[in-house]
Amino acid sequence: MNKKGVLVTGGAGYIGSHTVVELIGAGYEVVIVDNFSNSDASSLDGIAKITGTKPIFVEADCCDKEALREVFEHYDFSSVIHFAAYKAVGESVAEPAKYYRNNLLSFLNVVELMKEYHRPNIVFSSSATVYGDAEVLPVTELTPRKPATSPYGNTKQMAEDILRDIVSANNELRGIALRYFNPIGAHPSALIGELPRGVPNNLVPYITQTAAGVRECLSIFGDDYPTPDGSCLRDYIDIVDLARAHVVAINRMVEGKSEECYEVFNIGTGSPVSVFELVQGFERANNLKLNYKVAARRAGDVTAVWADTTRANEILGWCAERNLEDTLRTAWAWECNVRKEK
Ligand code: UFG
Repeated sequence: MNKKGVLVTGGAGYIGSHTVVELIGAGYEVVIVDNFSNSDASSLDGIAKITGTKPIFVEADCCDKEALREVFEHYDFSSVIHFAAYKAVGESVAEPAKYYRNNLLSFLNVVELMKEYHRPNIVFSSSATVYGDAEVLPVTELTPRKPATSPYGNTKQMAEDILRDIVSANNELRGIALRYFNPIGAHPSALIGELPRGVPNNLVPYITQTAAGVRECLSIFGDDYPTPDGSCLRDYIDIVDLARAHVVAINRMVEGKSEECYEVFNIGTGSPVSVFELVQGFERANNLKLNYKVAARRAGDVTAVWADTTRANEILGWCAERNLEDTLRTAWAWECNVRKEK
């Protein structure tokens, strides 16, 4: 079996494409499966330009088990990173069946085929959403998960549990769940980045589109939260730092360093940042003024969540490196590049 081979589902997407770049840089041979449901082929060109390598690409939906089986039949890899999933919280509330079907079926297909084809290692994309409105901050991996407040969040909790049960029942398989906090920014080359479809839900793409004049004004959702400046606190993690966490997780499994068959790590910076601080950081980093106003709270937002990253620091030997303003510069450079291409 090719220990250097990694299958990346959703590898054309935002986190997937940055992870593919870091994997290639670390000497891994990557096979990408993506159905472009929330991505497009330009990210594959970006990966090729940055790395000088064109990874193998198969256009397929992970819910189509026979199509996915072909990939397991044809390509040799010991590890899988499973990103392919829907991720819009609001849409998941409106269309729960779509989320449960897509996110759980694709995940089950991947792990069942790993078992059948004896491919031992999987990294699963989980989320800080599993902590909900935590009582004690920062959250550690031992902080109890809260009942999910959206079907999207529930698919992350359910997939974590399914993964734990499957690897516990099969001593060939190992799994690592990475709980991401808020991924932001883009590759420093500005050749890959986040490409939201339609009106962005997330803060940083909304900010960059407002700065670019695509959106008129950023609404800051709430200034009356019990936080120092009244806006929500989050842990914004640079996308390249996040991508590197996947490489160290794969290294750990490939090198047989983990004693446990299932492990969970928070992937964040460990520092809370308010919405106002983020907006000001963006203005400072890019030397521009943003049009914004305070609006009502957004339904479903938690007041504050940030990570205790001790486990990832000590066990994975990983920590966030890029500072917030540098990250916000990459976000703006990417937005400018996207506009230039249009
Ligand atoms: N915000 C604004 N204005 C906007 C967009 C966001 O003020 O236009 C605020 C939000 O209220 C929140 C913060 O910016 O306080 C961050 O919001 P994001 O939408 O960027 O991120 P969330 O923390 O809401 O979302 C993250 C992940 C999701 C995950 C969710 C669960 O991106 O995948 O946490 O809580 F589901």
